Amino acid sequence: MGLDISAVRAMYPALADGYAYLDGAAGTQLPAPVIDAISGAHRSGLGNAGGAFPASGRSDAITAECRQAVADLVGGDPAGVILGPNMTTLTYRLAATLARDWRPGDEVIVSRLDHDANIRPWVQAAGRAGAVVRWAEVDLPAGELPAGQYDTLLSGRTRLVAVTAASNILGTRPDVAAITAKARAAGALSYVDGVHATPHGPTDAAALGADFYATSAYKWSGPHIGAVVAAPALLEPLRPDKLDPSPGTVPERFEWGTASFADLAGTAAAVDHLAGLDAAAAGTRRQRLLASMAAAHDHEQRLFGVLRDGLAAMDKVTLYGDARNRTATVYFNVAGLTPRAVAGHLAERKVNVWNGHNYAWELAGVLGIRDTGSAVRAGLVHYNDRSDVDRLLAAVAELAG
Ligand SMILES: Cc1ncc(COP(=O)(O)O)c(C=O)c1O
Repeated sequence: MGLDISAVRAMYPALADGYAYLDGAAGTQLPAPVIDAISGAHRSGLGNAGGAFPASGRSDAITAECRQAVADLVGGDPAGVILGPNMTTLTYRLAATLARDWRPGDEVIVSRLDHDANIRPWVQAAGRAGAVVRWAEVDLPAGELPAGQYDTLLSGRTRLVAVTAASNILGTRPDVAAITAKARAAGALSYVDGVHATPHGPTDAAALGADFYATSAYKWSGPHIGAVVAAPALLEPLRPDKLDPSPGTVPERFEWGTASFADLAGTAAAVDHLAGLDAAAAGTRRQRLLASMAAAHDHEQRLFGVLRDGLAAMDKVTLYGDARNRTATVYFNVAGLTPRAVAGHLAERKVNVWNGHNYAWELAGVLGIRDTGSAVRAGLVHYNDRSDVDRLLAAVAELAG
């Protein structure tokens, strides 16, 4: 059936303020069921984990349900879902843990397409271990990350390949399955950043060949929670720094301090919300997620065509990237204006967009715009509609028509 966009939008209280929320790539709004799940968790009484009394049991149940929900979303095993405050924090933790047995002369591969959160933790961990960092390069102007280059980047010393499932500024979706297959054949692990990719279509971490798959709930209608999903057997031998009395089990061993239980309830509710985006989707939650996220993808791509073509038709607009396979994210500049000035003008027209490198630090450098304020990013998610796109196009046309 697809998305009933008015019904979807009606679930998002924030959209009632009349702004076009095209800033979803930096964080999405929350639908009422997610807001209710968070406040409902607080209202019903929560305790710290592992106690003998019911409020503690509720927190434990919320945590277990959240692991199951995230596993359903990405196609993983709930026993391998590590939960934490955000992707960056978890990636630093995993990088420090994995690097413990890296030796001088070992190698790691990062890519210039990635958000810095999937670059710097590996570069810094490699630096401490004396490991060599190799860089996968982006092909311009399309903004592709050719998989073939990994044949020469990989060696018998490669320990890890970190790569994004989608660029958060150009939207490029590299051929992750091909890259991880090459990594595996060379005996290296793969760490896939799914933060930008997850909200834009069905996710199958196993089909991507990701040993580790990272995602952040606030990019898909949930609260500020991050997760890294891996096979429990892969996590079992790893020894992250941890407190002596904290659980030594997997995945709890990787989770520091007390969790934000109400936000974990909101995260599970966000997965349920995504599963219901296509009201005709049936079957298990995983099956409904696959159908609903495919419907969300189709909806976004239809609108994206209008957005991209509309901007491309404006003389003074420069669009960056044109990858074959990409999310509904545009990155552009208007001649003679700073990205901040364009974003400010759009804000006056009630359009929310981001300006800047958006932490795609290396990529902004490759594009040659990092020192000039980079560019403007507008991203579509499942709750955007044609009126959002038309408003952006009309507002940009005032500057660049
Ligand atoms: C592609 C990508 N990776 C990583 C991150 C960092 O995620 P977090 O804010 O959960 O640390 C972001 C955030 O914008 C992102 O877009």
